Amino acid sequence: MLRLCFVCLGNICRSPTAEAVMVKLLEGAGLSELQVCVESAGTAGYHEGEPPDRRSAAAALRRGVRLRGTARQFEEADFGRFDYVLAVDESTRATLASRAPRTAAGKLHLLRSFDAASPGGADVPDPYYGGEGGFENVLDLCEAACAGLLKHLRNAHGEQLD
Ligand code: 4NP
Repeated sequence: MLRLCFVCLGNICRSPTAEAVMVKLLEGAGLSELQVCVESAGTAGYHEGEPPDRRSAAAALRRGVRLRGTARQFEEADFGRFDYVLAVDESTRATLASRAPRTAAGKLHLLRSFDAASPGGADVPDPYYGGEGGFENVLDLCEAACAGLLKHLRNAHGEQLD
């Protein structure tokens, strides 16, 4: 089984969105969560135990994407549990890199690096303090990046996914 963890700051907007978008793409590709397990977490713990932000949940639902779970903080032990740790922005990536054991450095990726159309180092911008459009943008960027990630998983781990 491949294990993916999407990570943002609060684990209530961007990473639950990426998680749910990826789950929907996997379902559409006929892959089960027994083959690719998908979770999300935040580098900060201040929303621990909360459901996804209602603005993120509503925007996602309009596209048939159902957000799930409750927020939790990414722990150092998670570097051992996951094969791919996918940071939504450079700030999250840097925080995770500073906490990563040396052996786990190769598991850490910027989410949008899997979107071939995205410029290098591109972020999924934090929508929390902005308007409605920010949540739609998060969905657009997660859909593009997760489609690229699925393509990458098929190329890199095809034998596990067939
Ligand atoms: P997220 O968004 O990292 O995409 O879940 C945020 C959620 C909460 C806060 C910031 C960003 N906050 O400052 O409380």
